[in-house]
Amino acid sequence: WISAVNDNEEAELVHSVSYGNDEAQQVSEEYMQSVNTEFMKAAARGLSIFVASGDQGVYGREGPGNNVFHPDFPASSPWVTSVGGTDFVTPSVTGEEQAWDGSGGGFSNTFPVASWQAAAVAQYKMTAADTLPPSFLWNASGRGYPDVSCLGGSVNPYCVSADVGELAGVWGTSASTPVVAGIFAQLNNVRLTAKMPPMGFVNPFLYQNMDCFFDVKQGVNDGGYNWGFAAVEGWDPATGVGTPNYAKLKERVLMV
Ligand SMILES: *[C@@H]1O[C@H](CO)[C@@H](O)[C@H](O)[C@H]1NC(C)=O
Repeated sequence: WISAVNDNEEAELVHSVSYGNDEAQQVSEEYMQSVNTEFMKAAARGLSIFVASGDQGVYGREGPGNNVFHPDFPASSPWVTSVGGTDFVTPSVTGEEQAWDGSGGGFSNTFPVASWQAAAVAQYKMTAADTLPPSFLWNASGRGYPDVSCLGGSVNPYCVSADVGELAGVWGTSASTPVVAGIFAQLNNVRLTAKMPPMGFVNPFLYQNMDCFFDVKQGVNDGGYNWGFAAVEGWDPATGVGTPNYAKLKERVLMV
């Protein structure tokens, strides 16, 4: 898919991807590295690729059987923007959000921490020191994900037109990801209207402009099992930098 995107001279500027499986379930490490190289090419040409962080919490599709967390690919690629899912703290009340327990997140076993997130990841390990899962469960040198989050809707689903004349409730990180992609498509519109280049690869921007996101500070992505990562102040591997504050973002993207 990403090779076809890179071969297309008229590729759309923003892409939303729901696919993901555990890194350990991928064909090989070489496969993940070659896909990651294609993601770098997409980033270099100014495309924005948003990838769902997964719907099984830290244990991934393999589950808790062998008692280690299972990071998800391609969400774990440093060269995509990984999107987690939240719920409203008070059901049915639009306002403060918390991490959804099924939202994928954690640290890659394949890709090292990315430079643009290194300070935020280090800060998390200090802020969350009291709640960090035992070190044998996760890889302290890995790329942390998700980068950002948005309502996943497991409690209050999104209402979508799924078929002619039919409305359906949908939820999960496959719902939160196209919402974030849509917001960044709007931000591209703001910039292109001002004769500025598109946002392109957004991760450095996210970590440098964390004040443009609603910080999510509650909830744990344990998938309903014993351990998970807690959402805390600042970036965390449950909700990333938080959920987009469009009013702030649309001003900020004209200044960077
Ligand atoms: C931890 O992640 C690094 C990449 O940052 C990798 O080289 C290493 O093999 C991983 N360790 C395990 C136990 O998977």
